[in-house]
Amino acid sequence: MAVVVGLDQPLVVVEWPFGEFEMPRRDKALEDYIVTLDVYVIQLGWVIRMFDGQSWHLIVGPRVTRRPGGNILVDMDRIVVSESGPLEGEVPIHGAKNSVLKLMAASLLAAGEYELTNVPGIVDVALMAELLEAMGAEVELAPPVCRILVPEIVRPEAPYELVERMRASIVVLGPLLARNGFARVALPGGDDFGPRPIDMHLDALRHLGAEFDTRHGNIEGRADQLLGTEVLLEYPSVGATENLLMAAVLAKGETTIENAAREPEIADLAEFLGAMGACISGAGTSTIVVEGTEELHATNHSVVPDRIEAATFLAALGVAGGELTLAGARSDHMEMLLRKLSDMGMQICRTQTGIWAAVDGRLDAVDVATLPYPGVATDYKPFVVSMLAVANGVGIVTENIFGGRFRYVDELRRMGAEIRTEGHHAVVRGRERLSGAPVRAHDIRAGAALVVAGLAASGRTEITGVDHIDRGYTDLVGSLRAVGADIERE
Ligand code: UD1
Repeated sequence: MAVVVGLDQPLVVVEWPFGEFEMPRRDKALEDYIVTLDVYVIQLGWVIRMFDGQSWHLIVGPRVTRRPGGNILVDMDRIVVSESGPLEGEVPIHGAKNSVLKLMAASLLAAGEYELTNVPGIVDVALMAELLEAMGAEVELAPPVCRILVPEIVRPEAPYELVERMRASIVVLGPLLARNGFARVALPGGDDFGPRPIDMHLDALRHLGAEFDTRHGNIEGRADQLLGTEVLLEYPSVGATENLLMAAVLAKGETTIENAAREPEIADLAEFLGAMGACISGAGTSTIVVEGTEELHATNHSVVPDRIEAATFLAALGVAGGELTLAGARSDHMEMLLRKLSDMGMQICRTQTGIWAAVDGRLDAVDVATLPYPGVATDYKPFVVSMLAVANGVGIVTENIFGGRFRYVDELRRMGAEIRTEGHHAVVRGRERLSGAPVRAHDIRAGAALVVAGLAASGRTEITGVDHIDRGYTDLVGSLRAVGADIERE
């Protein structure tokens, strides 16, 4: 599918998988016309690619800017950052990527019409919408709202094209098995963090009585009737806990999940399932008890705020200085990180509606180790490394969750950062300032960490691989610009 737009072109040409159509520009005001296009695209839940005359860009949501020369460019593929600060103002925190994707998957558990609010305008949400549509649901995606109409009969298959683009798709396995007694989900491959195994997901579901086969690159699960039981997870895996929880709500009898993941996104999922009629206690702790129900129903829900997005802006503040209010951020969901930032010299106040923070001068280095919640999340780590790269002193960062998650360090080194990695550790010696360079984002958080580092680098930092950043951030560039950062998309 492709879209071609240009002020100098008479037509927008949209190629859909089922053909091509043209939207005449007529005399409509440019803005109206673009809004029409966006709404159309969003309502269908499509991720679209746009050609600007030279290269293709991936877009989702209304993110259209007008360039002085006349062409409309959408979601350009480079972010250019210059040394910035102090930052000042308010940043809105959107709904959590790591929650909304699971809530969307959970909607498969019952037919009906769902309304999710506080939905982030990110590519992964559009991909999950595509996945639900592939199963027969109708999705109307207009962030911050997403309406999902789940039919009585869903097609219980997740195709490789979508699973490969978004590994979180594996969370449809539990709901599909519970509702249909059958699921065929393409096996996810590895990614930039290394392999993403699903053995714990399968083991957990086997305890409830599911059986699995691997055929032609798909995992096929069957379960005539899931039966509640006690399941001890060998590690508090977020995805395995979620899959198990979504299966257990329709299992017969009581399921106890021991050593469950405790992330706030799990508690959000449990709240959503509770509103659907499920009976769950202990979500957010290591022991979750689920009393199976025969039938659930559709519901409405507001997505929990994204603690990782909030951490990104705190890191920006950490390197650029100034004063920021993170509207909607939940300080109670990021206690350990806030404690570390406070040790580094950031002033932090938890307000009723968010977080206020200020930084004056360079932060001090600290040591940080990633751990399952409530520890410092592995997703925060790239931001911590960016902050340490310009802090006073030496900090050691230890990765305990994903083995090879230091790839972005090479990019930071290109910006002059002094970082030595050995196994699961990175030793970061802070410098007063980095030096802008062309760098590449290899994943969502690493990409955002490069943007953060660019705020503390002399000259221009040009970040490519922006499509990774778009998977997890609602207009990161716009939010940073609004608080005074020298940043744009080109
Ligand atoms: C989720 C988050 C991700 C975050 C991670 C840890 C989403 C979409 N992603 O990922 O951003 O970094 O939690 O907080 O919510 N493991 C196995 N076998 C399994 C499952 C996991 O060995 O069956 C291992 C993984 O390789 C990893 C560790 O367990 O080393 C943690 O993985 P897990 O908590 O499951 O993370 P995800 O749910 O994939």
